[in-house]
Amino acid sequence: MEIKIEKLSKKFGANHVLKNINLLIEKNKSTIILGKSGCGKSVLLKIIYQLIKNDEGSIFYDKKKIVDIDKFGMLFQYGALFDSLTVAENIAFIDFIDGKKNYKNKVINSLKEVGLSADIYDKYPSEISGGMKKRVALARALFKNPKVIFLDEPTTGLDPINSDMINELIIRIIKKKKMTAVTITHDIQSALKTGDNYFFLNNGVVEDSGKCNLMLKSKNKLMNEFLLGVKKLQNS
Ligand SMILES: Nc1ncnc2c1ncn2[C@@H]1O[C@H](COP(=O)(O)OP(=O)(O)OP(=O)(O)O)[C@@H](O)[C@H]1O
Ligand SMILES: [Mg+2]
Repeated sequence: MEIKIEKLSKKFGANHVLKNINLLIEKNKSTIILGKSGCGKSVLLKIIYQLIKNDEGSIFYDKKKIVDIDKFGMLFQYGALFDSLTVAENIAFIDFIDGKKNYKNKVINSLKEVGLSADIYDKYPSEISGGMKKRVALARALFKNPKVIFLDEPTTGLDPINSDMINELIIRIIKKKKMTAVTITHDIQSALKTGDNYFFLNNGVVEDSGKCNLMLKSKNKLMNEFLLGVKKLQNS
């Protein structure tokens, strides 16, 4: 699915988070959203996903203003698994709350797809590792076979080896399923590995954008400051 955003703005009280966002998420490509903490990246994803409403501007999903949000899957920042539900109930969450019970095979397939064993089917989130939780959250985002997947910081909190494994998994799945992916990340290495296009948000607007493989050659001053800041953080 292609998603086009025009003149989008969003305020929370006096906090004008998104002022004038214009961007194009290309069909079957991997788009990366970058920007400092608090600049509105998660808010932007939630607006596209229609969890919160924008004040002004338009979003066109394959050139239409109306979209079936069942076509979307989201891996939320912080994973957000329900601690009181099992792995299977978390993955099949939509079916589970609808009282549907015939999801077992589908869940087992989803577990395999993200490289997890069926042994954890009945386990609770507290009984599995951080890397496994991310995979379970990814399996949940993929459960309905979405056309578009939104990934809000999929590798945050993981060690480099687990981050690499999750990145490779994400690339493999989005290529195999021909999905459109939109990823928020502070991890530049991940962005370079997994992204086709990037958009750098700053002060409520898209300050810089381009192809990910040219990101490090950007001539934009604020983008370069951002990249330098991220690098310093990683080395500290
Ligand atoms: N539901 C809400 N009500 C009021 N303010 C909100 C709400 N959601 C987000 N904000 C505010 O909007 C701004 C952007 O938040 P957002 O979560 O999008 O940042 P972010 O770019 O994702 O940051 P991070 O990289 O730390 O995750 C922040 O100032 C935040 O406090
Ligand atoms: Mg965020």
